[in-house]
Amino acid sequence: MEHPLFYFYRSDYTKQYEQFLLLQKKVMFSALRPKVSCIVDSNTSADAKMQAICEILKAEVPHYDWVGFYFKNGDKRELKLGSYAGAPTDHTIIPYGKGICGQVAESNQNFVVPDVQAQDNYIACSITVKAEIVVPLFVNGENIGQIDIDSNTPDPFTKADERFLEFVNFEVAKIL
Ligand code: SME
Repeated sequence: MEHPLFYFYRSDYTKQYEQFLLLQKKVMFSALRPKVSCIVDSNTSADAKMQAICEILKAEVPHYDWVGFYFKNGDKRELKLGSYAGAPTDHTIIPYGKGICGQVAESNQNFVVPDVQAQDNYIACSITVKAEIVVPLFVNGENIGQIDIDSNTPDPFTKADERFLEFVNFEVAKIL
């Protein structure tokens, strides 16, 4: 049997390691923010900018395996896929209320899904996806779309992801 202090030190170490990972993530997002702003300020089309943002997020954030923007499709109560980085998806049109994306179109709230298998109203894009985060994109206070991230890592998203993706959408809103 282990000495009782073994358990004390082990849990203390785990907490410190978790804090280190959280800090590491914050540093990563701090470094990415100016890169996103630089893309937004660059001299190219809005579509090219959103494509570049999807690609940089997927390339630089280890737990982002699919990154895409969905937008309200004209006057219809449905979302249409815009720029994305990652595997092509069949779900280029998503009706309001359907899946995580369709729910965010109606709720205007961030939706963090630590385990997609625990969700009833979920549209599967790939069997490798374990978790998802969807953050609405507002222009003049109106929810006109969203950024959607799929992760192959279970339960990877924290408040730092939410704040970072809100920042990304705030920047993208300037070019829409
Ligand atoms: N999983 C999403 C569908 C979009 S794919 O992730 C690209 C949903 O449930 O709305």
